[in-house]
Amino acid sequence: MSRIAYVNGRYLPLAEAAVSAEDRGFQFGDGVYEVVHLHRGRFTDEDRHLARLDRSLGELRIPWPIGRAVLPGVIREVVSRNRLRANGLIYIQVTRGAARREHYFPAAISPTLVVMARALPAYPKDVDAWATGIITGPDQRWARRDIKSVNLLANVLAKQAAKEAGAFEMALVDGDGMITECASSNLWIVDEVGVLRTRALGHEILPGCTRAALADMLAPERITLAERAFSLDELLRAREVFLTSATSFVRPVIKINGAAVADGKVGDITRRLFAAFSRHVQGDLSNAA
Ligand code: PDD
Repeated sequence: MSRIAYVNGRYLPLAEAAVSAEDRGFQFGDGVYEVVHLHRGRFTDEDRHLARLDRSLGELRIPWPIGRAVLPGVIREVVSRNRLRANGLIYIQVTRGAARREHYFPAAISPTLVVMARALPAYPKDVDAWATGIITGPDQRWARRDIKSVNLLANVLAKQAAKEAGAFEMALVDGDGMITECASSNLWIVDEVGVLRTRALGHEILPGCTRAALADMLAPERITLAERAFSLDELLRAREVFLTSATSFVRPVIKINGAAVADGKVGDITRRLFAAFSRHVQGDLSNAA
């Protein structure tokens, strides 16, 4: 069965799903996107993703391509036409639209909307098998990383460097020697004295939907979070490290630049949060349909 994509009002086989060569997403990276996880017909944190899309569009002054209330229906139609019943992801992209190439916003232009879906491997059951390694490197992105824009060149280069080093991600270090996040995920540590930390929201990082959902799960676990940046040095000395994203969920990091994190095993807090997020994905009260 061929995959189906939604492009500006039409559901098309992927091979026929195309946008204009003058689309500003293609020419300038002038657009935004979202990636939403789907688990057995249930979207993880859908409202958070749609709220962030709304915010990203607003920050770039791109109007909604269709009514905001209509998008969930389009997403469901794409899922259904792709017969996606198990684990999958939805990719939503909105660009400013297509027009003769000029840097400034063209006067008469309607935004481009693309929605695609694809299957993902089964949700990880075993947290130890889900553990991974990362490397560290400079954060070379622009200054508004809070906007989920499709300008991902620095992220692409960081991910490629990680792949070539046999790692899954790159933790990005800013000009002050502090970690911002990873190339496509937020980064958390349990520091030397046992405090769970992740960088505070601001222009420097993407406000992750997984990050927000996880932050809400901490109280019942009796874990307190310090939204305080940590340095590269603190990362390397952390007791536990994990990353979060819509497709990584809670993913333990047990190796950094080839060296073990603490004793090289998944820590207790990471283990508990992995389990809590797994319940969330399966539809506990924090992610009820
Ligand atoms: N990436 N930081 C960056 C730079 C990201 O690109 C992402 C998500 C996150 C985590 O956000 P969330 O928890 O809402 O997925 C943090 C997606 C998955 C991607 O680009 O594929």
